[in-house]
Amino acid sequence: METAFRRVEQQTVTRTWWKEAIAYQIYPRSFNDSNGDGIGDLRGIIEKLDYLEDLGIDVIWICPMYKSPNDDNGYDISDYQGIMEEFGTMEDFDALLQAVHARGMKLLLDLVVNHTSDEHPWFVESRQSIDSPKRDWYIWRDGQGGEPPNNWASIFGGSAWELDPETNQYYLHVFSKKQPDLNWENGDVRTAVYDMVNWWLDKGIDGFRVDAISHIKKKPTDTMLPSPDGKKYVTAFSMYSNIDGIHEYLQEMKRKTFANYDIMTVGETNGIEPEAADLWMGADNGAMNMAFHFDHVDIMRQSRLAPLDVVELKRIFDKWQQGLLETGWNALYIENHDMVRAVSLVGDENHYWRESATALGMMYFFMHGTPFIYQGQEIGMKNVPLPSIHDYDDVATKNEYFERIANGMSEIDSMQQVWGTSRDNVRTPIQWDASPHAGFSTVTPWMPVHEEYETLNVEAQAKDAHSILSFYKTMIRLRRAEETFTYGSYRDVLPDHRQAFVYERAFEDKRFLIVTNLTANPATVTLPDVVTGTLVLTNELDPEPIDTETFLLKPFEARLYRL
Ligand code: GLC
Ligand code: CA
Repeated sequence: METAFRRVEQQTVTRTWWKEAIAYQIYPRSFNDSNGDGIGDLRGIIEKLDYLEDLGIDVIWICPMYKSPNDDNGYDISDYQGIMEEFGTMEDFDALLQAVHARGMKLLLDLVVNHTSDEHPWFVESRQSIDSPKRDWYIWRDGQGGEPPNNWASIFGGSAWELDPETNQYYLHVFSKKQPDLNWENGDVRTAVYDMVNWWLDKGIDGFRVDAISHIKKKPTDTMLPSPDGKKYVTAFSMYSNIDGIHEYLQEMKRKTFANYDIMTVGETNGIEPEAADLWMGADNGAMNMAFHFDHVDIMRQSRLAPLDVVELKRIFDKWQQGLLETGWNALYIENHDMVRAVSLVGDENHYWRESATALGMMYFFMHGTPFIYQGQEIGMKNVPLPSIHDYDDVATKNEYFERIANGMSEIDSMQQVWGTSRDNVRTPIQWDASPHAGFSTVTPWMPVHEEYETLNVEAQAKDAHSILSFYKTMIRLRRAEETFTYGSYRDVLPDHRQAFVYERAFEDKRFLIVTNLTANPATVTLPDVVTGTLVLTNELDPEPIDTETFLLKPFEARLYRL
């Protein structure tokens, strides 16, 4: 809902609730277990709404809670209008929605429509025979001399095709083989998807995070990819990401569903560029309100093996910040359920745990866009390395581990990659308190809790004014109180500095400066001018005044000034 118009440096800004929101992502399986079976659930979320309200959250996005055989933990849906048994019932869902609304908060669901589960009735019917009425709802092809139709790799490893012995044809799966891709070329598929979307919107939910949506259109499947390194299956993003023509489907979906409700939509859009912003997230033409791009994640991931490329990270943020200032809107994040913990990857979880968790938080939180916090990020949760591959749950982790072994890698080297990259690092239970199982459950949970839970937990940090949690609370309070952070312009003040990230936000007559050192070494910083103004927030316990153009930042020091 648009409420008023304001001017930012010659630009008109449109005020909207979802631009002013602070969003929190819940991975239901690991959030809170209300009935003592070791698995998080919907009633468990209700129990923690006070916590989220106190934190200052407006919008909650919950990862899939639909019926699912859980090959990919709910991202393989077998019934879009049913609730996963472990998570509860539709009554529990309705109670959650009501409880969220009663607090003035909003609830987003995960919309997974690039694929279904192979156990969804649509696929069960589709696979029955070549002339099944639903055959064309999925992407079926003949093999080539005992091999798949082409050499595209799945994002989760191996071929993107699976042979179905029933009819001796292959079906396409961009993700796991239990996630067959829907055929968006088929109008009946699209109608069925839109009906389902509208069913949820009519129920009163407040929007969607739209899963894997840049993959719904594919290149012709007779396109073979060159394989420079001789690999049998070739990384195939260029075959099924942002393919020309995708916007026809996105615009149709918007017109037939989203556009008719006052909701918030955020796309998961691997591989898009700001030049395409207008159709993806432009104020008038955008298929969604905002999108998660992956560009900064790529840079963050590279820091596993080499020092973080701070200059490149800033360049990428600048590209998106400037690129979407006039048309479009950013979704800001440094963690989600597909990544690893930011403090473990980019920060220094051993020597500067509190400092780096807060510096990374401040680095992204005051940019132009709607910030998202992934559960546990607000207390600086760390990666959870487990001894053996058999301790892991994630289908992608396991596929990729065994693929590396099959390609000749040693077990220990393959495990190193698991420890550094597995999505299970962020899927362990939330550490609520120091009681057994970290207060997540009364029994041994589905994934082990982090061994440091007795000290690293919500309860301990809630009592500590200098904790990561208290820092996040302050950041949220500041963002909510000051519209410069929502509507102001963005300027990178020191694009070439190799350690520090310094940017300015300005709106009308107000200016703020965000200063972070993203390395574990002291950083000498020279600004164009002396910083005069109020130090509004810092992660330094004993901050020294900055009163010259050149000053020294401690490792992972973070400061926010009102100029
Ligand atoms: C998205 C989700 C991820 C899931 C995949 C397949 O990337 O974020 O968790 O595995 O889509 O649905
Ligand atoms: Ca439970």
